[in-house]
Amino acid sequence: MPSLDSVLACLDLNIDRSVARLMELLRIPSISTDPAYAGHCRSAAEWLAKDLSAIGFEAAVRPTPGHPMVVAHDGPEGAPHVLFYGHYDVQPVVPLELWEDDPFDPKLKEMPDGTKRLTGRGTADDKGQLMTFIEAARAYKAETGGLPCRVTVLLEGEEESGSPSLNPFLDANKGELKADIALVCDTNMWDGETPAISTGLRGLVGEEVTIHAANQDLHSGYFGGAAANPIRVLSKILAALHDDNGRVTLPGFYDGVQELPEEVKKIWDGLGFDPAAFLGSVGLSVPAGEKDRAVLEQLWSRPTAEINGIFGGYTGEGFKTVIPAEAFAKVSFRLVAGQDPDKIRAAFRAFVEERLPADCTASFSPHGGSPAIQLPFDSPYLDTARAALSTEWEKPAVMIAMGGSIPVVGEFKSRLGMESLLIGFGLGDDRIHSPNEKYELKSFHKGQRSWARVLDAIGRMR
Ligand code: BES
Ligand code: MN
Repeated sequence: MPSLDSVLACLDLNIDRSVARLMELLRIPSISTDPAYAGHCRSAAEWLAKDLSAIGFEAAVRPTPGHPMVVAHDGPEGAPHVLFYGHYDVQPVVPLELWEDDPFDPKLKEMPDGTKRLTGRGTADDKGQLMTFIEAARAYKAETGGLPCRVTVLLEGEEESGSPSLNPFLDANKGELKADIALVCDTNMWDGETPAISTGLRGLVGEEVTIHAANQDLHSGYFGGAAANPIRVLSKILAALHDDNGRVTLPGFYDGVQELPEEVKKIWDGLGFDPAAFLGSVGLSVPAGEKDRAVLEQLWSRPTAEINGIFGGYTGEGFKTVIPAEAFAKVSFRLVAGQDPDKIRAAFRAFVEERLPADCTASFSPHGGSPAIQLPFDSPYLDTARAALSTEWEKPAVMIAMGGSIPVVGEFKSRLGMESLLIGFGLGDDRIHSPNEKYELKSFHKGQRSWARVLDAIGRMR
């Protein structure tokens, strides 16, 4: 395959330039959840549309009521058509003091073992990942004059904040976006040598709950003893969400949840997962989930309830003796196949309401809801991509699941009738959503080479 070989050689030759381009994108602080960064989100979208245009895509920044999308098209009509999806928005960077460097001043660092990594917010989630695809397309065009498939690119700017504009955008642009298969680059490898295709993702329901008590903050000596304390009320309710065996206590929570099919269990058992090493890598040792479940099951095929944030009262330096008027928590549920996001949200609200003592009220605001995803194991695209990945990496590609959520995958299926292939090059220690996020240079480089191979192979599928 002389043309593919020259594309791969081109990627090798231009790795420094591709790193420099990624760093430009990483310097734009496109935090989607904070309205103060809206201008930067727009700049990131513009940067990407410009880069895609420079490669020869017909690319545009497309407005939404929130942060814009980038949509681009290229490649021969009539060839197999892929929709590539990635997101250019990033998570917030607090707590800033835990970062070794400015999160938006990316660095290429050499480690003591000689490996190199890119550091900074968005390196792995998802700017570094999405640029692996764009670099592959760039090299393919440069070397062969065109793309092997019809390629539509869709880059979202609200993935990390619940994708409020996504569904209307998909509905309004169905004809333009529907392809034979969606390629999503926002997941992990199995390990640093073993590429992976993810066939399952958990769903997500987010809720912010506020408990209101007195109509003002109170002196905790003058009123203490007589006044309801909303933090105490909130803590008690949240503590009741799990029983002593780690099961979630919301009525109906496990309705519809299935046991793992035997064939999937076999695939997972074959992966050789090491729970002690997994927990050890983040300073933990004892699995804290449902007691009767293996760790991989806890992560990939069982639903959870988590408290992601809790605040209220005085949290600054020193001490203030106060009984606050309100207390807040951000709670989320990871869902598996069979669970309905709307029912889980309603069950949580009822659970809180039922436990409110006199003089306390609760208010809620929803933060996204998406069902779990199960992709087919018997797709020809899966076989093709698996073979292509296995040629590039040291070890053959494996099929895994991910405990995280990528709501767009479900929407592609339900709104556009399109399946997805989830191929990503992140690693478990990339610290996504945390301080000191990183992306291995190997992931970035071999990720580019992987996409060149996958595109080439899909192009031959007609
Ligand atoms: N890239 C992640 C999903 C992911 C997490 C893939 C871990 C592989 C391993 C994605 O950007 C993400 O974080 N999604 C959010 C979705 C939410 C904000 C709607 C998540 O899973 O929390
Ligand atoms: Mn992501």
